[in-house]
Amino acid sequence: MHAAPYLSAGAMSAHAVIAPLEPSASLTVEKVLSVHHWNEHLFSFTITRPQSFRFRSGEFVMIGLQGDNGKPLLRAYSVASPAYAEELEFLSIKVPDGPLTSKLQQIQPGDEIYLGRKPTGTLVTDAVKPGRRLFLIGTGTGLAPWMSIIRDPEVYDLFNQVIVAHSVRKVSDLAYREMLENKLCDDPLCDSAAAEQLFYVPTVTREEFHTRDRIDKLIADGRLFKGTGAAQFDPEHDRVMLCGSMAFIKDMAALLEAEGFTEGSNAHPGDYVIERAFVG
Ligand code: A2P
Repeated sequence: MHAAPYLSAGAMSAHAVIAPLEPSASLTVEKVLSVHHWNEHLFSFTITRPQSFRFRSGEFVMIGLQGDNGKPLLRAYSVASPAYAEELEFLSIKVPDGPLTSKLQQIQPGDEIYLGRKPTGTLVTDAVKPGRRLFLIGTGTGLAPWMSIIRDPEVYDLFNQVIVAHSVRKVSDLAYREMLENKLCDDPLCDSAAAEQLFYVPTVTREEFHTRDRIDKLIADGRLFKGTGAAQFDPEHDRVMLCGSMAFIKDMAALLEAEGFTEGSNAHPGDYVIERAFVG
């Protein structure tokens, strides 16, 4: 048997990095349950959900790890799992020098992670008026809130058709592609409704793919509406949610305003709602 080694300064600092996280008034400490790497810059993971944690499908919450200074390093993330699920799921980009995501991409099942106690957000069905078609349009990790909303059976009672449009640069950026192409067929709560009512419109703008144009082009030529009836927007019956980069949201919001849509919020439901996808 070896004697207990003398703790060098290096060993002590290494120990400090993996010290257990401490809950606070605004944060709980949860356990990572699973991690899935979609490609070299995209991954998703699930964590435990505290009993006290309530949210509406489509909302975001702060999550994070311990920063180099010992304090929580937090970013806002859309929850990708639906409100009824036992676990919380998130979709994240990997930024090599991103303060949080450079660390977060290394998480493993069993690791601890901070979870904010107060989810919030406008990408919720409460913030849009009743309608017939619901368009969920996102770029990159802006798909995450749609994965929450479309796995919540309630959305299929509220809308006749739910269209998920996802614009990415590379084919491998199409996270959850198989699940979406199969219309959530493994999900017992949604599959029969989704089979009829869910539409998936992926587009890949910088690699070979069957659809290669930006969303605005798919709107202009009608491909966004394929199989759903009218091949153009109707502000009276269509509702739209946007999530993605600043530039994307700005351009798309301008396009919708020009079509006669008005922006909504939790306090004043409208025809469309927006939220920036979080990175870094
Ligand atoms: P593109 O490849 O033509 O720039 P990013 O990684 O830069 O956020 O882009 C993710 C996806 O969003 C890409 O398909 C990109 O298309 C598209 N995109 C970026 N900006 C806009 C915009 N202003 N309007 C429409 N699509 C956009």
